[in-house]
Amino acid sequence: MTALPLRQRPAWMSLIRHFEEVHSLHLRDLFASDATRGLRLRAQAEGLYLDYSKNRVTDETLRLLFELARESELAEQRDRMFRGDHLNVSEDRAVLHVALRMPKEATLVVDGVDVVEQVHRVLERMTTFALAVRSGEWKGHTGKSIKNVVNVGIGGSDLGPVMAYEALRHYSRRDLTFRFVSNVDATDLVEALRDLDAAETLFIVSSKTFGTLETLTNAQSARQWLSERLGEDAVAKHFVAVSTNDVKVRDFGIAIENMFGFWDWVGGRYSMESAIGLSTMLAIGPEQFNQLLEGFHAMDEHFRSAPFEQNLPVIMGLLAVWNRNFLDCPTVGVMPYDQYLRRLPAYLQQLTMESNGKHVTIAGVEVDYPTGATYWGEAGTNGQHSFYQLIHQGTTIVPVDLIGFAKSLNPLGGHHDILTSNVFAQAQALAFGKTAEEVRAEGTADQIVAHRVMTGNRPTNVLLAELLTPRLLGSLVALYEHSVFTQGTIWGIDSFDQWGVELGKVLATQIIPELSAATDSELAHDSSTNALIALYRTLKKAGDTYGH
Ligand code: F6P
Repeated sequence: MTALPLRQRPAWMSLIRHFEEVHSLHLRDLFASDATRGLRLRAQAEGLYLDYSKNRVTDETLRLLFELARESELAEQRDRMFRGDHLNVSEDRAVLHVALRMPKEATLVVDGVDVVEQVHRVLERMTTFALAVRSGEWKGHTGKSIKNVVNVGIGGSDLGPVMAYEALRHYSRRDLTFRFVSNVDATDLVEALRDLDAAETLFIVSSKTFGTLETLTNAQSARQWLSERLGEDAVAKHFVAVSTNDVKVRDFGIAIENMFGFWDWVGGRYSMESAIGLSTMLAIGPEQFNQLLEGFHAMDEHFRSAPFEQNLPVIMGLLAVWNRNFLDCPTVGVMPYDQYLRRLPAYLQQLTMESNGKHVTIAGVEVDYPTGATYWGEAGTNGQHSFYQLIHQGTTIVPVDLIGFAKSLNPLGGHHDILTSNVFAQAQALAFGKTAEEVRAEGTADQIVAHRVMTGNRPTNVLLAELLTPRLLGSLVALYEHSVFTQGTIWGIDSFDQWGVELGKVLATQIIPELSAATDSELAHDSSTNALIALYRTLKKAGDTYGH
């Protein structure tokens, strides 16, 4: 990247001056002075309609943000990603999740290998396997067909699969049961397996590295569970692996013909449409899975070719930068008004925060501006009856993405209109609020007026689509991926590494033997950690009233 450091880019400096002029503008006034605002500040692509008019921006803000994107070499960086350059500098890797959803006819040669051909070879193996399981042709050790699928993985090897399964449950085979085990807390595994018949259960051990302690611990315990019921030989018919590491898969005892591979150029949080999506394909079938891939690819092409001014991921990414760096908003809420998308916020948490929670630039220089915001959320309307209070009247401004659909997959009475009215109403309430005069005019007693004032001027994006389909889900996830990319490019950071998660893992590995050894060893940590470990040891040994 040859762009100037962020603070030296002319558009950034102009934005700083511009902010002084516009920071006190209110969305009430912006709408009052421009009757067409809601028709102008919107964009549409691949079935997604984005209304960004309720952001605290003027036409000049947007002009400068697009200029900033150009000065940040967003187009060049995007093209480098699509070409397979090693954008993940700290791990010296290409970043090619976009290749996972390229059509079969496409070619993309990276380091002398056509990666699209590789991708489709794995997709074909996944398809054959999924059809065999779904048709009942794949038999378990005792000759029974598979009825239960348990994905064992964590992070990107769990959140994508579980989010996609929940999101596309409507399209899934209802006679198959899907469970997702991620936490090393045994409760996760034990509760997932409690009512399953081992003879009808297939485990998918999903781990890019096949070295993640949580996943390997769960997978070992799952194997023991199966072996105790059906014998060790049963593993061959009840365990498959998804990984980039064939050596470790073999060491675990899963044959290579039961392994579905992917590559180091797929980041864990960008892997749900790789073989990591095997559980998704088993649930919805290869054809619908293909629709999902098409949706991803369509948004990729939009990102690659649409002018910035009409480019959904670019617009959303730039607004996120504006909200983070100029309005100083530390968090973003994502509220899908669709029960099927209830795990989307958790999925987006990893995508956004593992990608853009970085403190140095690609060159390793400490940044002197805030980077990635904290993402969180909840399916609507539940959040409205708990934390929305703070979003409406708290002292922290929380920009919110509200995601709605015109049609329900479960039309029932007036439910859907009630649900969707809330999408629009929340955006209105957050933008325009309620003035003291309006509160007073309702006959509110003077001493209560201030409590009921809603200051408004709180930014939202509204994403509206017709119906939640596999294709739409692909486009929606790709939209967020490329928005994350846009933000990371402006900030000049490596959005594709995750070194921050390492230290905790290493320290836990040192502490494990101190908790589990038969005799208590000397402790040489800080005084707080020593005291916690000592107390843990004491409590662990003490008898309890439940007789454990
Ligand atoms: O600890 C973070 C992380 O490395 C994520 O980036 C990744 O998605 C997750 O762990 C799981 O890793 P793996 O798929 O290698 O088990």
